[in-house]
Amino acid sequence: MKTSCYDCHSNNTFYPWYSNIQPLKWWLSDHVNSGKRHLNFDEFNSYSQEEKLKKLDEIIETVKDGEMPLTSYTAIHQKAKLSLSDRFEVKKWVNETKREVK
Ligand code: HEC
Repeated sequence: MKTSCYDCHSNNTFYPWYSNIQPLKWWLSDHVNSGKRHLNFDEFNSYSQEEKLKKLDEIIETVKDGEMPLTSYTAIHQKAKLSLSDRFEVKKWVNETKREVK
C-alpha cells in the first residue's frame, strides 16, 4: 500500500525526480490533490465509522477492477504495480481493518 497508494493518498507524498519536469509536475500534483480529497490514509482515523467502511469497500473495488493505482502512474512507476499476491494482501488488510472498525 505504501509503495502503490501513498503517493497520492497520504500526506507523505514522495515526489520522484521526474516530478520536477513539466508537465509531469503539474500532472502529478493534480493527481495527488485529487487523490487525497477522495482518500487520505493519514486522515483515515478521523473518518466516521460509516465513512471508513465505505472507503474500505472502495479500496477493494478499485484494486479488484485494476483502476488503482492509476495506470498512467504505474507506467512510469513500475514498482507500484500490484501483483496477484499484492491484491490478496490488500484484501486481507481491508478485511482486518473492517473488523477493527466494526
Ligand atoms: C497517481 C496517483 C494515484 C495512485 C498511485 C493511487 N490513486 Fe487512488 N485515486 C487517485 C485519484 C486522482 C483519485 C480520484 C478519482 C479519479 O479521479 O479517478 C483516486 C481515487 C481513489 C479512490 C476513491 C474512488 C472513489 O470512487 O471515490 C480509492 C478507494 C482509491 N483511489 C484507492 C487507491 C488504492 C487502494 C491505491 C493503491 C493500490 C491507489 N488508489 C493509488 C490517484 C491515485
